[in-house]
Amino acid sequence: MLLEAKQLTHSYSSPLFEGVSLQLQPSETIAIVGVSGSGKSTLLNILAGFITPKNGSVSHFGVDFQNRDRKSKEEFRKRDIGVIFQSHYLFRGFTALENIEVASIISGKQVDREILERLGIGSVLNQKVAQLSGGQQQRVSIARVLMKQPKIIFADEPTGNLDNTNSYQVMKTIFEYIEEKRGGLVLVTHDMDLAKKCNRVFRLEHGKFSEI
Ligand SMILES: Nc1ncnc2c1ncn2[C@@H]1O[C@H](COP(=O)(O)OP(=O)(O)O)[C@@H](O)[C@H]1O
Ligand SMILES: [Mg+2]
Repeated sequence: MLLEAKQLTHSYSSPLFEGVSLQLQPSETIAIVGVSGSGKSTLLNILAGFITPKNGSVSHFGVDFQNRDRKSKEEFRKRDIGVIFQSHYLFRGFTALENIEVASIISGKQVDREILERLGIGSVLNQKVAQLSGGQQQRVSIARVLMKQPKIIFADEPTGNLDNTNSYQVMKTIFEYIEEKRGGLVLVTHDMDLAKKCNRVFRLEHGKFSEI
């Protein structure tokens, strides 16, 4: 099993959600939908080990995240997971390819040119990030994540600033990646059409988490 969450509860100033349990198997894609403010991003960050839940546990590949030591947590973040956000963190003065190469050096994996072509950025690799459109920048940041060859991808509204055509192409590339690598995807989105392309869809509503 790639990921197992048991009875997660979280609150900030008021309770956000409780009793969230979830399992992610190899080659599986899961969507989490819910209105803005329902706690989707918080839950995704808990599943990825960035936020500690108030209660409950998260394990990846059978290892409880809280039981990992600092080094193991670092390795896990560096090698095992890929995180895609709506806004991208790129080095703007570098070219698209240089940004992608940084990820590949950190992970020790070769740059996969075919994925760059499939993402439609093959022809802009030598341009500076600052000269690229928002959609192209988002695709460069997704390429960076895929170059790491993570086992689990956590994506928070990854196509939020892409038009329909680009959005379709990007999601197709991510789904193909998951299938080829027998990885797993947890996708947070408010787009029900996109969510339905995943194997399972869960809704976060009024603090409860249920499959739909
Ligand atoms: N670090 C934080 N501290 C306090 N409140 C937070 C924090 N992060 C999120 N919240 C609040 O928790 C609620 C859920 O936020 P979020 O998880 O971002 O929901 P969603 O992604 O579904 O829009 C919101 O009301 C938000 O303001
Ligand atoms: Mg959010």
